[in-house]
Amino acid sequence: MPIPPELGLRPGWIYEVAATTLGPGGPHAAPIGVSTPDGLLLRAALYKGSATLANILENGVLGLNFPPGAALLQTALHHRDRLRYAALEPETAAAPRAVPFLSEADAWLELRDLRTEDTGPTVRLEASPGRFRAFGPVRLINRAEGLLLESLVLSTRLHLLPPGRGREMLTENARVINKVAPGSDQAAAMGDLLAVLGQSS
Ligand SMILES: Cc1cc2nc3c(=O)[nH]c(=O)nc-3n(C[C@H](O)[C@H](O)[C@H](O)COP(=O)(O)O)c2cc1C
Repeated sequence: MPIPPELGLRPGWIYEVAATTLGPGGPHAAPIGVSTPDGLLLRAALYKGSATLANILENGVLGLNFPPGAALLQTALHHRDRLRYAALEPETAAAPRAVPFLSEADAWLELRDLRTEDTGPTVRLEASPGRFRAFGPVRLINRAEGLLLESLVLSTRLHLLPPGRGREMLTENARVINKVAPGSDQAAAMGDLLAVLGQSS
């Protein structure tokens, strides 16, 4: 089954979502980045030691919650007691583990039968999409737009920073933009910004 086209995921781009899992104490949530190589598979890389990864390895299910904005990711990171979960679907023979989801998300995507690969510091996850529910238009969150904006602002403040520091930050922003949104307008604009600054300095 392909990833629902209404989500509009661009292959290779990384989108920030709240990952929901079943933990020993009940539902659990944390922000993660997800991507698709081909519109069919979903991928994520989870750092070892995270509760989210432990829950996935234990129960084999993962909910992707597409948030209305980054603020929900802050809640999922630092104020988990404030999160509200939807009622769990009843467990069935075909779906023996219920997947928790957040009430405040714009859309839910269920991942089961996750394949895992140990890559050293992280475990790479790959799965085909399962059940999908959208409650309205989904606003995808990708870091490139924010990073480009911050880079543009930073480029006007370089003279206020210690020598080389601003350039270092811009180079790092360019690296991340190319990673999370390869081939994007933002990546092109960021490359142009570095070139303009290089020419003018
Ligand atoms: C926007 C955002 C994206 C993140 N993406 C990932 C990710 O892709 N993989 C990962 O292991 N951690 C990621 N993190 C960090 C985890 O959310 C963080 O380590 C969290 O504390 C893990 O919680 P847990 O141990 O309860 O699962 C991300 C954090 C943020 C804020």
